Amino acid sequence: MGMQLSQVLPWGRSMAEYVGMFALSGRELGKRILGCADGPASFNAEMTAYGYQVISCDPVYVFSKRELRQRFDSTFATIMGQMSAIRENFVWDTIPSIEALGAMRMAAMEAFLHDFTPGARDSRYAVSGLPHLAFADNAFDLALCSHFLFLYSEQLGEAYHLAAIHELCRVASEVRVFPLLNLEGQVSPHLGPALTSLRRAGFRATVQTVPYEFFKGANEMLVIGE
Ligand SMILES: C[S@@+](CC[C@H](N)C(=O)[O-])C[C@H]1O[C@@H](n2cnc3c(N)ncnc32)[C@H](O)[C@@H]1O
Repeated sequence: MGMQLSQVLPWGRSMAEYVGMFALSGRELGKRILGCADGPASFNAEMTAYGYQVISCDPVYVFSKRELRQRFDSTFATIMGQMSAIRENFVWDTIPSIEALGAMRMAAMEAFLHDFTPGARDSRYAVSGLPHLAFADNAFDLALCSHFLFLYSEQLGEAYHLAAIHELCRVASEVRVFPLLNLEGQVSPHLGPALTSLRRAGFRATVQTVPYEFFKGANEMLVIGE
């Protein structure tokens, strides 16, 4: 069964957040990038406006712009309430307040929605999801996956994580995944097995600190190269 709109929580981050989460340098921004599980992030929209090359893939792109906007509007207050209830788990410096967070997520959503129709026409938004991506081997220089793998460790088991990460390595010569914590704020139990499996397969896999920390303690990414 495909993804249901009721399962979607449209909550996307900005290009500045992606640059921080993945410690992206100016040179790296110029690579052929895959944003896997980009959802309603404004990364693709903003990168495209700067002239960079990004393809985003996510099963959620099967829905229309109208459906995604309705879902965002109907879940916004609930998510804000949940964030407010656990506000002590976050670092409020770059994002100074709950209100600023809401405004940022809304701006990201608006930028994404504005770009969605022309972007889909240009094949920059692909309806495709892990663990089987609709891209050729080595189609990308860099694959980024934010707030999907490791975060949902309980829902997506170890076998899924290993298959998904190896799939990302198939389509890109370098892969970065952020964060490495699960929803409870613990290091994902799938990280160790992923490192072992990747190294056994001959990849260079390291954990690196990044300059982005919003959820307290979530300031590391997994970097996989050949
Ligand atoms: C929490 S959002 C993260 C959005 C964005 N990466 C960011 O950090 O702002 C998680 C995303 O994972 C997507 N997703 C769910 N199942 C997926 C799958 N099998 N493959 C790829 N993405 C998936 C969801 O649709 C959603 O957009």
